[in-house]
Amino acid sequence: MTPRDELRTELFSAENLHAVSQLTKRCFKAPWSEEIYRRELDNPQSVGFVCMAGAEAVGMIHCNFVLDELTLNTLCVDEAYRRRGIARMLWNAVTEMMRGVCTVCYLEVRESNTPARTLYASLGFEQNGYRPRYYSDPEEAAVLMAVQL
Ligand SMILES: CC(C)(COP(=O)(O)OP(=O)(O)OC[C@H]1O[C@@H](n2cnc3c(N)ncnc32)[C@H](O)[C@@H]1OP(=O)(O)O)[C@@H](O)C(=O)NCCC(=O)NCCS
Repeated sequence: MTPRDELRTELFSAENLHAVSQLTKRCFKAPWSEEIYRRELDNPQSVGFVCMAGAEAVGMIHCNFVLDELTLNTLCVDEAYRRRGIARMLWNAVTEMMRGVCTVCYLEVRESNTPARTLYASLGFEQNGYRPRYYSDPEEAAVLMAVQL
């Protein structure tokens, strides 16, 4: 990717699946496998958007929904593209699409993940639970958050 590549937002699809998998490997220590994301493409209760720069994915959001409840599973932005509003833009794309379908969104986040917790608070999420020792490697609590859509 080069600085001249324009950013564009797309639905998560078979075309950007591999680029998304590469992005999640850069962003997370234990990302979902490409196979898991591939299966999500066939899941009618799955929604995702990808921010592309050229052929590279630089941001991705993925959620599942059941009835009126949305769960945010993955939100990540390539380190070189952070603090440009990409995560907020991806979240807005999901809420725009799910308006009238879902009324609430839930997520869990590592207690020490200040960037993500600050982002979620700025999007209106509030803490509604706490699970000690929820994550491993390293062991850490999960903060549960929710927002009315
Ligand atoms: C969390 C993450 C997705 C944020 O992506 P981003 O595109 O940089 O976020 P945005 O630019 O849309 O930020 C929106 C707001 O979130 C907050 N925020 C984002 N990054 C922050 C940071 N490092 N420190 C403090 N606040 C931060 C700010 O309020 C920011 O608004 P501002 O820039 O006007 O101050 C990104 O840091 C990331 O991919 N982290 C690694 C993966 C991860 O932890 N994902 C969440 C797992 S639950």
